[in-house]
Order: sequence, then C-alpha cells, then structure tokens
Amino acid sequence: MNAVNRQMTLRRYPEGMPRESDFEVVTSEIPDVGEGEVLCRAQYLTVDPYIRVHVSPSMSVGYAPTTPLGAPIPGEAILQVVQSRHPGFKDGDFVAGFGGWQDYCALPGDSLRKVDRGLAPLSAHLGSLGMPGLTAYVGMTKLAEAQAGQTVFVSAALGGVGAVAGQLARIKGCRVVGVTSSAEKCRYAVEELGYDACLDRTRPDFAASVAAACPEGIDVNFENAGGEVFWAAFNNMKPYGRVLICGLVADYNDGAPPPGPDQAPHLLRMIALKRLVLKGVMVADYWDLRPRFLEEVSGLIRDGRLKSKEYVVQGIENAGRAMIDMLSGRNFGKTVVRIADAPVD
Ligand SMILES: NC(=O)c1ccc[n+]([C@@H]2O[C@H](COP(=O)([O-])OP(=O)(O)OC[C@H]3O[C@@H](n4cnc5c(N)ncnc54)[C@H](OP(=O)(O)O)[C@@H]3O)[C@@H](O)[C@H]2O)c1
Repeated sequence: MNAVNRQMTLRRYPEGMPRESDFEVVTSEIPDVGEGEVLCRAQYLTVDPYIRVHVSPSMSVGYAPTTPLGAPIPGEAILQVVQSRHPGFKDGDFVAGFGGWQDYCALPGDSLRKVDRGLAPLSAHLGSLGMPGLTAYVGMTKLAEAQAGQTVFVSAALGGVGAVAGQLARIKGCRVVGVTSSAEKCRYAVEELGYDACLDRTRPDFAASVAAACPEGIDVNFENAGGEVFWAAFNNMKPYGRVLICGLVADYNDGAPPPGPDQAPHLLRMIALKRLVLKGVMVADYWDLRPRFLEEVSGLIRDGRLKSKEYVVQGIENAGRAMIDMLSGRNFGKTVVRIADAPVD
C-alpha cells in the first residue's frame, strides 16, 4: 500500500477552458475505515463533462455542487477493495463508487456496486457499461421513440454516451448521422461503429454538411454538444421530431450565456411550426433500469455488435490534462485515467 494518498485538487476555479495550472496534486493520509465502510484503492477514474460543472461555482446545480478548492475532484471511479468493514465486500473485490480523483477513499459499502469483470474490461464500467452507457440506453429505449428507417443525429458521437446511443440507434435500424471533430474520428465512427455518416464539426461548411447528410431532415436529435452543433441540427429537424437534451458540453466552459441576439423566439417558433418535442434527459431518474441495461448492452458487446473506444491517460497527475483533452475534443473515445498498475483486461 502506498504510504500516502495522492489527490488531484483544484488550485483555483478555471475560467473558460481549464488549464493544467488550475489543478494541483496534494498528498494526505490514507483515510480511516469506519464501521460499514470500505477502504478502496483507485484503478480507473472517469473524466466526464459533468466534472467541469462541479468545478465552476457559477454552474452549481443540485446534482453537481461546487467542489471546494483543495478538495479532491469528484467523480466515479473503478476501485479495488483494500480493507472492508462491510459484510458485502471483501479485500480484492472490484467496485464502482464515487471516490473522486484520489488514490484511496473510504466509502460507505452501501454506496458501492460490484463490478463484474466477466461482462467487459474494468474501464468499460465507467463508459459503455457505466453511467454514460445507461444515459444512452435511456435516451434510445425510453425517450427517443425512434423507428427503423428514421434519421437519428448524435453529437459527441464517439464519447461515452454518443457511441452507445449511435450504435443502439443503428441496431434499431435507424439511419445514424454522427458528429465529431476530425476526419480520423469520423472515419472510425463510420468504419468501426457503423454510423451511416459522420460530420466534422470543425469544418467551415459544417452547418451545410448537416443539411446534405440529412436530406429528409432529422427525426431524433440526441444532443450531447450544444452550441453551433445544436443549432445546425435544430435547423434541420423534421416535423414531429424529438430533441433529446442530454448535454451541452460546448457551454460548460462559459460562465454566462454567449453574447448575440436572443435565439429563444426562433427556437420557440420552430418548435410550434414543426410540432417538435423537446425532452430533457437525466440519467439519475433511471438507476432502476441498470440491471436490464447491463444485461442487454453487455450482450451486444459480447456479440461484437456494440463497440467502444477509450482514451486512456496514465497517472492521476495527468487527470487535469485528460479533462482538458476531453473538453477540447483531443480525446479519441471515452476518457479515463488509469492509476498505476491497474489491470488492463
Ligand atoms: N443528462 C444526463 O443524465 C447525462 C449523463 C451523462 C452525460 N451527459 C452529457 O452528455 C454529453 C456527452 O457526455 P460524455 O460523457 O459521453 O462525454 P464525451 O462525449 O466522452 O466527451 C465530451 C465530447 O464532447 C465533444 N465536445 C467538446 N467540446 C465541444 C464543442 N464545443 N462542441 C461540440 N462538441 C464538443 C468532444 O467530442 P468530439 O471532439 O468528438 O466532437 C468531446 O469528446 C455531455 O454533454 C454530458 O454532459 C448527460
């Protein structure tokens, strides 16, 4: 066991795109384990967009309260049990829990879930088989009402949520158009994940390319991005289309709404004219679906029908950089940080 607990903390709240100097590794004692608690050692940390919301006081919301300066950055992690004072866990078990960006944490056993390594590699339990995958599953199976042959549009198409959403739509027989940020990523989306088309949001002709790729319009927009990507999709919605507002990562670095004309009248007029349905997605409402989701999606992974790509950054000291990479699209797949000698399944 390491003698100390390394924690990745915030030196200051980032303004705009975070910088590596906003983060700082500090050390603390390994925590004591109370009755009913489990001492765990981190294996993989997730790097998800919601963590950006946690480190921005101006965006504090109920599910993502602001992280105090100097405290470990919050987030789910794959952990290994080091010492258990809970009857449900024993030393060596692999679990998922909200340990944050640190080597060791003592968590209530009741807050942990066991990770079944037989279903998929450990890190996949933070992605396709974790909270992002469940979000995609909820969107595509409960909210999208997508029918075979309809056009489904997915932004952040290779990410933890997007890759699963896009492939579930494809499996339903939909025509799936993804968005990502380079020609190489677009190629991967089409050739490996089976997207029918994928558009590069960094190209100057991006908005025109959406219209060209969706000549009959978009039936379902699975919105993960916000910003210009949202508007390009919204302006191509088909009458009676569904817009799932899952996330708006393009806006998470902004403390305030972007300057410019008020777009609300245009938005509302189009909703009325096209009889669009907008639905907010909140995965926390659907934890009870997890067993069904795990069974179905792990089956698809096992059969080779659902794939994922991970962007693995090595070492807790690089977790801040991993977050910057994810927010700036330099990641190629679901972003995770691998700690020290974590197993690679
Ligand atoms: N509502 C819920 O319950 C729930 C749950 C989980 C996640 N979410 C949301 O779902 C979205 C995807 O989450 P994730 O965990 O799967 O993240 P992710 O896709 O793995 O990572 C974020 C991706 O967003 C894209 N991006 C970054 N800046 C962008 C910009 N300015 N414009 C357009 N795209 C940009 C980048 O992809 P490219 O460079 O490839 O485009 C980046 O890889 C996020 O908005 C997140 O907040 C919501």
